Amino acid sequence: MSEVAHSGGGVSESADARAGNPMWSSRLAFILAASGSAVGLGNIWKFPYITGENGGGAFVLVYLLCIAIVGLPILIAEVMIGRWGGGSPIRTMQWLVKKEGLSRHWVGLGWLGVSASFLILTFYSVIGGWAVSYVGEAANSSFAGASSDEIGSIFGGLLSNPWQLFMWHSVFMLAVVMIVARGLKSGMEKAINILMPLLFLLLLVMVGYAASTDHFYAGIEFLFAADFSKLSTEAVLSALGHAFFTLSIGVGVMFAYGSFLPKDVPIVKTAVTISVVDTGVALLAGLAIFPLVFANGLEPGAGPGLIFQTLPLAFGKMAGGVFFGTLFFALLVIAALTSAISMLEPTVEWLEERQGFNRMKATIVLGALAWIMGIGTVLSFNEWAEFYPLAFIPVFEGKTIFDILDYLTANLIMPLSGLCLAVFAGWFMSRKVVKEQLGLGDGVLYDSLIFTLRFLTPAAVAIVFIYNLF
Ligand code: PHE
Repeated sequence: MSEVAHSGGGVSESADARAGNPMWSSRLAFILAASGSAVGLGNIWKFPYITGENGGGAFVLVYLLCIAIVGLPILIAEVMIGRWGGGSPIRTMQWLVKKEGLSRHWVGLGWLGVSASFLILTFYSVIGGWAVSYVGEAANSSFAGASSDEIGSIFGGLLSNPWQLFMWHSVFMLAVVMIVARGLKSGMEKAINILMPLLFLLLLVMVGYAASTDHFYAGIEFLFAADFSKLSTEAVLSALGHAFFTLSIGVGVMFAYGSFLPKDVPIVKTAVTISVVDTGVALLAGLAIFPLVFANGLEPGAGPGLIFQTLPLAFGKMAGGVFFGTLFFALLVIAALTSAISMLEPTVEWLEERQGFNRMKATIVLGALAWIMGIGTVLSFNEWAEFYPLAFIPVFEGKTIFDILDYLTANLIMPLSGLCLAVFAGWFMSRKVVKEQLGLGDGVLYDSLIFTLRFLTPAAVAIVFIYNLF
């Protein structure tokens, strides 16, 4: 650990007291880290399959709209508040309410974020483990010439075996802890500087391959030709929910990453770049995946099994499938890893602010806790597949531990805390601070951002949130 940890102490220490804190080395370092957080299983696993389930083009259009009017403004607000406060989400909110004379209830926003990212990590690591195991399967030619039943039994076999799931989850979590424990610069920045370029390279190779198949155009058409008759209310809601998940907003991560952002970095421009990278990767993942699906006469609407069942089938049939299959799952592991390290960061930052914890100790304690809590998700796919611990609450009926965590974080906490972030930045922060932080003078850009944060974003999120609940 080369850098100085956050100074412990009271709330009264302001953002200006963070002089001893580590900072991202450059704007690019922050962009890579935040894009690393944003680009994850959400882009390569979830986006393609929900697009497939919802019929393609029209869904993609709605999703892009959600990123623009909900995701981006909240991302800007979260990074801005994070940088202004300069501490963990909780410490930042404590300091802000004191300084601005606001209700202490706002501190709940910090707690909500820190606990949500931690909860997500507990199950994300298990899915990350699936990806790790699939690198091995692909490299061992397990998919070569396999029938749909055989591929199904590889996936089924993995999910039904708790020991195997637990082992891959452990491998994945260990990698996360090893990176985060080394600190912002020597751990996270270093890993991200290698992993992100590698991710872009692998993705381009995959898209290049898809472009060489006869069905590339069918893939493009599927993603971009909008047929609104296929668009349901559910689809709109799922597009909005996904905008939160994919940009990693509303869970303290962008708060925490923002707290290490040097003062001279322009936030709006940077947040736009991150959103464009994240969206670009999701679309490129679609362009890499759908042509292979169509070329092999498979169904795009297979659901969550799309990349773990449909795609391996395609790899098994095509020339060079072992090579490209291995590359694809390596890409998935990298994307998941750079997201998972960001999920651990808010809690680590918070614990580091306590007496008696340095980064190493905080990371090990929290990593171990998340690892153990991950067992609940591991068992949700086998031994506890029919164990519904919160069945007495209507929205959690028929949900396993994994389903509960997923629903609670993505459908409830993320929108709720995103809504609060928009309201906080739009209505409660002083105009002067917002202008200063964003480096925007009076003008159309500033006015439209404030208008969006005050009205559009909260309205859109409130609708989804209420719908989700009832
Ligand atoms: N954005 C990540 C993805 O798309 C997931 C994530 C959620 C990361 C919340 C951090 C916080 O996979």
